Amino acid sequence: MKKTIMDLDLAGKHVIIRCDFNVPLKDGKIIDDTRIVESLDTIRYAIGQRAKIILMSHLGRIKEESDLEKNSLTPVAMCLGELLRLPIKFINRTRSEKLKEIVANMKEGEIVLIENTRFEDLDGKKESSNDEELASYWASLGDIFINDAFGTIHRAHASNVGIGSKLPNAIGFLVEKELSALSRLDNPERPYVVILGGSKVSDKIGVIQNLVEKADKIIIGGGMAFTFLKAAGYNIGNSILDNENINFCKEILEKYQSKIILPVDVNAAIDTKESTPSRIVKVGDLQSNEMGLDIGTETINLFAKHLMNAKTVVWNGPLGMYEIPKYSIGTEQILRCVTEYKIETILGGGDIVAASKKLGYKDKVSHASTGGGATLEYLEGKELPGLKVINEK
Ligand code: 3PG
Repeated sequence: MKKTIMDLDLAGKHVIIRCDFNVPLKDGKIIDDTRIVESLDTIRYAIGQRAKIILMSHLGRIKEESDLEKNSLTPVAMCLGELLRLPIKFINRTRSEKLKEIVANMKEGEIVLIENTRFEDLDGKKESSNDEELASYWASLGDIFINDAFGTIHRAHASNVGIGSKLPNAIGFLVEKELSALSRLDNPERPYVVILGGSKVSDKIGVIQNLVEKADKIIIGGGMAFTFLKAAGYNIGNSILDNENINFCKEILEKYQSKIILPVDVNAAIDTKESTPSRIVKVGDLQSNEMGLDIGTETINLFAKHLMNAKTVVWNGPLGMYEIPKYSIGTEQILRCVTEYKIETILGGGDIVAASKKLGYKDKVSHASTGGGATLEYLEGKELPGLKVINEK
């Protein structure tokens, strides 16, 4: 068992909390604050323990100068201040003399947020390559390190693994909650059904390989279903195809035929515009200029039938182009199904969580993960460096 924040004495200490504030922004405004909201329990606990709190996070990916301004944590500082109703001292540098001075003079319960850790990537990818000197500098600011950035736990960067290896450490409440939900899948109540969607097979190969033996059924929808359908010999028209993985799909279908459930009909159109007419068509009957953009009615019934007796579901990736209302029906109906059947359901981060939020199901499922890539790597059975660095109790 990993140490949690409750195992350490935080009083009067400088506590570095690595959060994942990598939130979606549009025109400089946060369009989904879920990750910030989910970090509040840990921050509030540290305030209550009279810690001097130093928050760190990345935002986006920094490749060139022009990425800096649009990926500043300034909007996060404002949002966090509003949510906590407390002043947040935002330092628009990742290191400086002023930062050291401010940190040295912090009072108990005070919160400092340091600028986007990936600003350091402009200078030889120091953050992303876990640069020793950078990690030592950041670690020198604190007495204790808390990793509460679940979404980044699959990365070995200076701001998580680097600092974590140099200070007494623990996980925060968000990471604890995520691991507790995901660990229920290690020994799931059966039948155990995996639902996979999204566009690319390549993103899900590791998950399929790791879960195909463990799961009782794997339901496949979304764009990735067409590579499986092609591998099964169907004509897929102009639907999205992951050419390089047709053979992988063929092998999986040959070996686990009875476990893999594919769409039998789709809602198709000649392009992805909302105004373009669409029609429900049996798989195999697509015209050469048509592409499948959602699962069809018969498929919804088929998937629902396989979910009827399920006790555990893990779901990664939407079943159609849910951003467009008429192609969100498959995802919505199956979300309805898992919640009405009261199946223990874990949504594996990224697009399916965004879809569940948009369609009004996020709070009805057992757990909606804040990690996209992190959840996938967990489901692939990979080691998570940001967790490995945390000490055992
Ligand atoms: C995420 O959004 O999945 C995490 O914040 C990690 O971001 P990254 O894929 O850019 O490392």
